[in-house]
Amino acid sequence: GRIRHYKWEVKYEYKSPDCMKKLSITINGRSPGPTIIAQQGDTIIVELTNSLGTENLAVHWHGIRQIGTPWSDGTEGITQCPILPGDTFTYRFVVDRPGTYMYHAHYGMQKLAGLYGSIRVSPPDGVSEPFFYDHDRSLILNDWYHKSTYEMAAGLSSIPFVWVGEPQSLLIQGRGWFNCSLLTSPSLEPGVCNATNPECSPYFLTVIPGKTYRLRLTSITSLSALSFQIEGHNMTVVETDGHYVKPFTVKNLFIYSGETYSVLVKADQDPTRNYWMETSVVSRKPTTPPGLAYLNYYPNHPHRQPPTSPPANPIWNDTEPRMNQSLAIKAREDYIHPPPITSDRVIVLLNTQNRVNGRVRWSVNNVSLTLPKTPYLIALKEARGDLHNFFDQNPPPERYNFAAYDIFSNATNHNATTSDAIYRLKFNTTVDIILQNANTMTVNNSETHPWHLHGHDFWVLGYGKGKFDINTDPARYNLVDPIMKNTVPVHPYGWTALRFVADNPGTWAFHCHIDSHFYMGMGVVFEEGIEMVGKLPSQIMGCGITKGFRRL
Ligand code: C2O
Ligand code: CU
Repeated sequence: GRIRHYKWEVKYEYKSPDCMKKLSITINGRSPGPTIIAQQGDTIIVELTNSLGTENLAVHWHGIRQIGTPWSDGTEGITQCPILPGDTFTYRFVVDRPGTYMYHAHYGMQKLAGLYGSIRVSPPDGVSEPFFYDHDRSLILNDWYHKSTYEMAAGLSSIPFVWVGEPQSLLIQGRGWFNCSLLTSPSLEPGVCNATNPECSPYFLTVIPGKTYRLRLTSITSLSALSFQIEGHNMTVVETDGHYVKPFTVKNLFIYSGETYSVLVKADQDPTRNYWMETSVVSRKPTTPPGLAYLNYYPNHPHRQPPTSPPANPIWNDTEPRMNQSLAIKAREDYIHPPPITSDRVIVLLNTQNRVNGRVRWSVNNVSLTLPKTPYLIALKEARGDLHNFFDQNPPPERYNFAAYDIFSNATNHNATTSDAIYRLKFNTTVDIILQNANTMTVNNSETHPWHLHGHDFWVLGYGKGKFDINTDPARYNLVDPIMKNTVPVHPYGWTALRFVADNPGTWAFHCHIDSHFYMGMGVVFEEGIEMVGKLPSQIMGCGITKGFRRL
C-alpha cells in the first residue's frame, strides 16, 4: 500500500454553519475536516497539531480496527493521554478494508464543536465493488448546538443537573439553516445570526441526469437519531460500516450516530428542476427543524430552490419502521462471513438512566463508567506493581437481575455506582453481547442508543422487543447471513444481540455514541491479548502515573 501523509492543524475559529456565529473547532480551517481518501492496504499518517490554545485533544478513527496499532485508536483515557495544547501527535495506522468510515474528536464532549470528517477506502487494484455507480460522494449528517461544548459538559456534571437540550439545527455536510428571527435576546450583537451568510447557504450535490451516484452517508450526531430522504428518489442500500449489504430499497433511511451507509441513487427524475434532500429527527420529540439541502440536476442553477415543499418526514415516535429497517440489513450474498455458531461468553448489558450522588448518569448493569487518570492501555502494559493503583480490578457485572428488573417501568430505585473497572476477555474467544434497553427515569420513555465498538466489527445476530430471554431468544439468532457492523442501535424497550471474536490485542471502548450519554457513563471497556501488544509509543504517555514515562 501507499503512504498517505496529512498535516492537520486543529484550532478554534468562528464559523456560521447554520447562520449563527459559533466558536468551532476546525482542521486546516475547515469543519467538517478534510475527507481521507485511501485504498485498502494504505498507511495513513496524520500529524496532528493541537492549536486549541488551552484545550486538550484526541482524535478517533471510527471503524478502523487498528490491528497491531491499538495506541492509534485515539480514545483519551483508554488508549492515550490527551494531546496537550501546542503538541503535535502522529497517528499512524493501516486501512485494511474498503468501506465508509469517519473520524472525530474523542475527548470530553469536544466532538460537538465540529471536529469530524469522512474516511473513504476503495478496494485494491483489480478488485471491484459488487455494484455499479458512476460517481462517489460523501455526505455527513450532524446536529448542531449553539451553546459551547464546555457549557454543555459542565451542565451535565453539575448539581443541579443541566441537560444539554435539543440541538438548534441539523447540518448536511456542515451546513444548516437556523431561523435567526427566533432569537429575541436584545443583548445579541448585530451580525451574530445572519440568514444571508454564504456559509449557511444550502449544501448542494450536483448530479448529471441519467447517472448513478454512490452516496456515502455518515451520521456523526451528538444526540439525534435521523431519517434521511431525497425527494422523488429511491435509495438502494448497498454498504454499511464497511460491509456489503444485501441490497434493499428505501424512500427514507434511518441512520444513527456512528453509522455509515452507502446508498445508490439514480438521477432519473425530471431534469428541469432541483430536489430536496432532507434529514429529520426521529426517536426524540423533535424541536429541531429538519435539515435541508439541494439535489442539483445539472445544468440547473445550484442555488435554485426546488419548486415543491420539502417532503413529509416519518413520525418521530413510530419505532416500527426503524425496527424493520434494522431487521432488513443482511450481509450480501458472496460476501457473507458466517459467525462462529456458538460463543464462549455471554454478557448482558442493561442500559439505564440513574442518579448517582445527586447527578444524572447512564449506567450499564448499574455501573456508570468513569475513565481512570492513567489510560488502560498504558496502565496494563507499563504499570509496575499493583494494578489496583490504576483502576478497579473487580470485573463489572456480566448481567443484571433478570427476574427483579422491570424494563418497562420507571425503576423505584435509581441508584447506581460509578466504576472504572473493565471486562477482560480471553484472547481469541467468541463473545456475545446483549444490549437491553429499559425505561428511563421519565414515565413511558425509552430512548434509542447507538452502540459503537472500537477495534472490531461484530455480527448483528438479532433485535427484539421487550426483555431478552436468555433461554429462548438465542434460538432465533440469524447465524446464516448476519451483517457485520461497528455501530448498532438498541431500539426503545428493545434488545440487540451481537457476537464478536476477541482477536485484536488492546483496550477497546464500547459505548453509546450519543456524546452526552457516553459522557454520563454509558459505556464499557474491553481488554484482550494485552501481552501481545507491541511497545507503546512514548507520545501516548504523559498523564496519570505515566507522567515521567514520556521522557524515558
Ligand atoms: Cu465514534 Cu468511541 O466513537
Ligand atoms: Cu445513549
